[in-house]
Amino acid sequence: MTEGAEIPEMHLQLVRMLADGHFHSGEKLAEAMGLSRAAIWKHLSQIRDRMGIEVFAVRGKGYRLSEPLELFQDSLIRTHLSDTARDRLSKLEIFSSIDSTNSYLMERVEKKSPSGHVCVAEQQTAGRGRRGRYWVSPFGNNIYLSLHWVFTLTLGELSGLSLAAGVAVVKSLESLGLDGIKLKWPNDVLWQNRKLAGLLLEVSGEQDGPSRVVLGLGLNSHMRQDHGMEIDQPWVDLSQIPGGKQISRNRLVAALLNELLDTMARFEAEGLNPLIPGWESYDAYLGQPVVLQVGNRVIEGVHQGIDANGALLLLHEGRLQVYHGGEISLRPGG
Ligand code: BTN
Repeated sequence: MTEGAEIPEMHLQLVRMLADGHFHSGEKLAEAMGLSRAAIWKHLSQIRDRMGIEVFAVRGKGYRLSEPLELFQDSLIRTHLSDTARDRLSKLEIFSSIDSTNSYLMERVEKKSPSGHVCVAEQQTAGRGRRGRYWVSPFGNNIYLSLHWVFTLTLGELSGLSLAAGVAVVKSLESLGLDGIKLKWPNDVLWQNRKLAGLLLEVSGEQDGPSRVVLGLGLNSHMRQDHGMEIDQPWVDLSQIPGGKQISRNRLVAALLNELLDTMARFEAEGLNPLIPGWESYDAYLGQPVVLQVGNRVIEGVHQGIDANGALLLLHEGRLQVYHGGEISLRPGG
């Protein structure tokens, strides 16, 4: 694995000092870091270039970030974990920069890392989405999280797990007071038809179990417009959703883990079944005319929810049909 180069501690320290979004004079920064003012200036330009962070310099006032940042902190995340999540979390790793949290854990999986190993990163240099897409992952503002879980289930019995995880993500956002969060089959998290978060599930194991799963979540908490330009679909971030702007990133990671770790354990015991009514209550397109794209095939139908395995149900040419893959969208003018 080629891990994204970790960010130099010096740069992280400077970013932490500026994280409050207030002005800090070059002189004070230089004194605190034991460096010259010229060296501070040089490091801050490297921070701009390498981390994509906007740092303003104003003569007579000093330097400040374009907006405050809340960086991940192990202790803050743990403070907000439920007792059961604390028990189920075997390891929590925080990276300032990594190629992809999923790739990192997938490599650990081969080395037989335990269930409940979680990693989060401030930045991904090669974030991966579904269908080979790139996941835009700038520093310090969004959530890039992966979780490893070992199931005694067979690979076949894991169908529906990604839908269960989608429900967990919506519930964690609701637990923080957000409304109107929906799911688009199989597991995109939407707000007002724009993508807020996505899940990437990667599995390894023998056909008849045990199965090792790495579940990756990318959630836009505050995506700068210039970074958002790189996203190839309508997107939204928490800062645009009522009540979302003030949510602490550390608290958000804890809320996500509270639900996701619980869901993993429940899925092992009960499968998708108990979660189906919940999934359907969040279904963004239930009862609506949709288009399903499977490879080059385009299928039009009316979305009828999901079956017991989490497959998509469409009313197509007068019959209820089951689909296991593809990408749905609302039928234009439907
Ligand atoms: C999607 O395409 O909707 C899935 C996006 C998943 C992105 C997350 S970010 C954390 C984890 N690491 C990755 O490289 N991808 C997932």
